[in-house]
Amino acid sequence: MEFFYAKKPKGDVKMTILVTGGAGYIGSHTCLELLDAGYEVVVVDDLRNSDAESLNRVEQLTGKPITFYQFDARDEKKLDEVFTKHNISCVIHFAGLKAVGESVSIPLTYYHNNLVSTMALCAVMNKHNVNNFIFSSSATVYAQDNEMPLKEDGHLGCTNPYGWTKFMCEEILKDIAVAEPVFSVVLLRYFNPIGAHPSGMIGEDPAGIPNNLLPYITQTALGRLERLTVHGDDYDTKDGTGVRDYIHVVDLAKGHLKAVEYARKHQGCEAVNLGTGVGYSVLDILHAFESENDVKVPYVIGPRRPGDIATVYADPQKAKDMLGWEAELGIKDMVRDAWNWQKKNPQGYRKG
Ligand code: NAD
Ligand code: UFG
Repeated sequence: MEFFYAKKPKGDVKMTILVTGGAGYIGSHTCLELLDAGYEVVVVDDLRNSDAESLNRVEQLTGKPITFYQFDARDEKKLDEVFTKHNISCVIHFAGLKAVGESVSIPLTYYHNNLVSTMALCAVMNKHNVNNFIFSSSATVYAQDNEMPLKEDGHLGCTNPYGWTKFMCEEILKDIAVAEPVFSVVLLRYFNPIGAHPSGMIGEDPAGIPNNLLPYITQTALGRLERLTVHGDDYDTKDGTGVRDYIHVVDLAKGHLKAVEYARKHQGCEAVNLGTGVGYSVLDILHAFESENDVKVPYVIGPRRPGDIATVYADPQKAKDMLGWEAELGIKDMVRDAWNWQKKNPQGYRKG
């Protein structure tokens, strides 16, 4: 028996996209873009790291409804019910655990959540003859010995369980695409998503003390945190601080629409970087944030953070050639929109 069946023509009916993890940071921004583009959106999220308020706000912003199911994406039986009820054309799989440090402490939880959800989705897609899959991967799958900018054919290898979950899911999806040529997978390797929708109604809402740079800066600017610690100023970079490829979350979300269009028209498995190709240092970001928003962010220089490397940025050419996508928003947009969201929602969704 074949694992995947021939693609069914969908005609002119509105395509329905299943978005797992759609209530989260990148997922909510992508739901908004999908609805604006005329897609029907079905979200599966167990809200372990998000709040359904994000989806309410996407509905308010777009004036369109989202069908929401709150359950664990590893639950094949419940996924089967969703696929039975809705004529799903494509799955965008955001649901996953994503904190690098936490993954070192509770690796089994990370492997189980991130791998089993991916495999459960593939099994149910097979049953329902759905062949288009967009996967949230990460620049963290690249080994540390690559030269910059990172190209999709660079060496792969990880330094923590979170990264390995992304690497392993990529391998699983590549193998399925080889075995079943009708399967179409786009592995989107995100660089550093920051910023928020310009309305300030949806944005990043990390639980507890943030690990990532931008939420740490915005919460410090707000006075919720005392000061930012810059993790090291002795790297071989222009000012000694770490350099990353920050990408506006709205640009990133739009990249998913291009990937959906691509998957519908092609077969096989392709990995694609979603980055800008430009690297900014920690101090670049900090100073851009202060000058664009006219606020001060107290900071101290601390030691290097274990596991960090000096410089990471993408070669975004493949996304341009293959998907017809490139980032449009710049650093000023990113820091302005991040602050606009944080000011309007000082406690995030939960208490904001
Ligand atoms: P997020 O935590 O805001 O969103 C993930 C969503 O998935 C949350 O709403 C969470 O409740 C849900 N979820 C997690 N496990 C689930 C499960 N088993 N069943 C149902 N729902 C589940 O994270 P994000 O920043 O929006 O990231 C989305 C995806 O992109 C993740 O897979 C992440 O690993 C990947 N990614 C993120 C970044 C980043 O810097 N934000 C970078 C590279 C890759
Ligand atoms: N940084 C600080 N102080 C902080 C937080 C971060 O100086 O309080 C620095 C880091 O040392 C690094 C830069 O800011 O130089 C960016 O750090 P982030 O933690 O925001 O992001 P990372 O590049 O470490 O990792 C992020 C995601 C990963 C993903 C990776 C992909 O957290 O999940 O991007 O490139 F895999």
